Amino acid sequence: MTNLGIKERLGQRAAVVEKFLTTSLDDRGIPERLRASMDYSLLAGGKRLRPVLTLAWAEMLGGNVDAVMPFAASLECIHTYSLIHDDLPAMDDDDLRRGKPSNHKQFDEATAILAGDGLLTEAFGLMCETSTVNGLPADRVLRAIAVLAAASGAGGMVGGQTVDMEFTGRDNVPLEELREMHAMKTGALITAACECGAILSGADDEHIENAREFGKAIGVAFQIVDDVLDVVSDTETLGKPAGSDEEMGKSTYPSLIGLEKSKELAAEYIAEAVERIGEYDGENQQFLADLARYIVDRVY
Ligand code: IPE
Ligand code: IPE
Ligand code: MG
Ligand code: MG
Ligand code: MG
Repeated sequence: MTNLGIKERLGQRAAVVEKFLTTSLDDRGIPERLRASMDYSLLAGGKRLRPVLTLAWAEMLGGNVDAVMPFAASLECIHTYSLIHDDLPAMDDDDLRRGKPSNHKQFDEATAILAGDGLLTEAFGLMCETSTVNGLPADRVLRAIAVLAAASGAGGMVGGQTVDMEFTGRDNVPLEELREMHAMKTGALITAACECGAILSGADDEHIENAREFGKAIGVAFQIVDDVLDVVSDTETLGKPAGSDEEMGKSTYPSLIGLEKSKELAAEYIAEAVERIGEYDGENQQFLADLARYIVDRVY
């Protein structure tokens, strides 16, 4: 297995998540059009990076991957909700996502807002199922839920998206503040993905801290590379509009320090992340290290 490239290994792990996502929101009494809108974005592809991170950390630390699956899926629900809202005219005003018309283009703005609300709220139901259906200890699951709530909430992703809007149209945002914005809007969820995997495995605090620090480093690097790709790649490859950041006047790493420095900085964060997991071994360690490096090498 490990002689496969990282893209293929990520794809294999993503396919397992994909399968679970297909039926994860069944039997909840969701009105048809709302469910169609939620599924439209949730099942439109995507790298499934966040749930895969949760599962890899859980498995590396001896956890039960099947039991953790609903929690991993909840991360993808929250991430997908953030993308639907991020594309709305009031935010980034982007018409293409995951290679298809954005949710509000395919449906309408009200439905897109509600699909996001639905995905966010159902995510918490999925997190609970990790204990109520799959039997993981409730104190562990509660701790993970608290971590994910904080990371996706107003002091995390939502807060970061707010700062992103405040920084739009401004130049000369201090680099430290830009880093903090990236850490919040994108890093927080990626960090929680790793940290919750560690928590749900039942590992002790030392390992949980390793997961958190690894997540923080790859999280900021991930958004730096997202900003770089917005400049250097094309719409077809990205499945979302290239050049959107410049058009909107976004404050990004490339706009502030240039493309080359941005790439160097992302690579530094990734090296830090890989070092952080040096004490582990096995297939999941190799996968996480390769995945970290893939974050800077990826084309979409
Ligand atoms: C895009 O995330 C939005 C950011 C937080 C940068 P991804 O690049 O993980 O998007 P998908 O899930 O693969 O579509
Ligand atoms: C999005 O950042 C971060 C989110 C929390 C959704 P971007 O606005 O750069 O993400 P894309 O480029 O639209 O995917
Ligand atoms: Mg945005
Ligand atoms: Mg955007
Ligand atoms: Mg972007």
